[in-house]
Amino acid sequence: MRCYTAVIDIFGGHFMRAARILGMIAAVIAIAVTGVYSAVWTGGERILRRQYETPVYSVTHSTDADVIAVGSRLADIAGCTGCHGAELNGKIMGEEKFVFRSVAPNLARLSKTYSDADFARSIRHGVRADGTGVWGMPSPAFFELRDEDLEAILSFIRAQTDKREKLPKDRHWILDRLYLLQNENPMEAAAIDHFAQRRTFDFSAPLQQGEYLARLACAECHGVAFDGGRAFGPETPPPDLIVASAYSRDEFAKLMREGASFNGRDLGLMGAVARSRFGIFTDREIDALHAFLTDRALTLQAE
Ligand code: HEC
Ligand code: HEC
Repeated sequence: MRCYTAVIDIFGGHFMRAARILGMIAAVIAIAVTGVYSAVWTGGERILRRQYETPVYSVTHSTDADVIAVGSRLADIAGCTGCHGAELNGKIMGEEKFVFRSVAPNLARLSKTYSDADFARSIRHGVRADGTGVWGMPSPAFFELRDEDLEAILSFIRAQTDKREKLPKDRHWILDRLYLLQNENPMEAAAIDHFAQRRTFDFSAPLQQGEYLARLACAECHGVAFDGGRAFGPETPPPDLIVASAYSRDEFAKLMREGASFNGRDLGLMGAVARSRFGIFTDREIDALHAFLTDRALTLQAE
């Protein structure tokens, strides 16, 4: 009604009064917009600053060259070097102007202030030393890392030198905070049952070794239940790993080593990730992965 009167007033020549009313309307809109903006901002901040409780681990790194070499290999398979850089000096992982910037930190530098237990917690649980969660690092896939593998990775991290490369800060602008608020588990730490019993994997059983490796190497994209993941952009999303059962053992080995699909199709990101990370799998590891994935597919198809 008031608005309507205002328009009549303009035509009636009561400019001052109309201007005052329009000014008040503009002020109300401005206050509402500011209110929504700050609610989204602080809501996002609350998610980003949330604290998580986790167990504390007594793991120790080693300076033994053989252990460091094992760690280096695992860091490639698990993608640590892919995201944090070959020498773990950090990398910008993703950036969208005025939406977000995700930075994988310089682990060689963090090494100076982080204890082995701090590292263990951020890797397995996605929780920083200050108790807040990380964003953009696939800790749910690393929760079940065996102690000896975790220690080898820690040894590899500690063996790196800080080259003092400059890295910008992580940023979450307003639009990204809106996504955080809409997402059920925006922080990796929120998707982990921190006090769940970690399973033990018997590597003399191929199915168990295969499942362990699949968690470490494939879950980051294909999901911890291997039932498919989110697309990284306009590309095809990572499918349910049931598709691996379409591959014979030899075709699967070619997929892992050369990124080649069984029917000659270009696999985009999958092809690239295989060529950069999975060429180092041993025959035994490829057998174990293939055995686990075909067994899983058969079990699911039987259900
Ligand atoms: C998909 C990319 C990706 C992979 C794979 C990855 N990281 Fe990260 N990592 C990140 C990002 C991004 C952050 C920063 C997260 C943040 O600050 O919110 C991070 C943070 C960390 C941190 C620091 C957390 C803290 O306490 O501040 C450690 C330690 C770490 N990663 C170790 C590893 C190790 C070891 C591996 C391999 C087992 C690994 N990362 C694999 C992306 C990745
Ligand atoms: C960095 C992400 C990423 C990782 C890690 C990853 N994949 Fe994939 N994978 C993809 C994407 C994306 C596709 C879909 C490719 C397409 O169809 O264009 C895919 C597709 C596949 C396919 C289907 C190929 C086809 O013929 O359609 C198989 C099988 C597969 N991945 C197996 C694996 C296995 C096994 C691992 C772990 C050893 C793994 N992937 C790790 C992203 C990944």
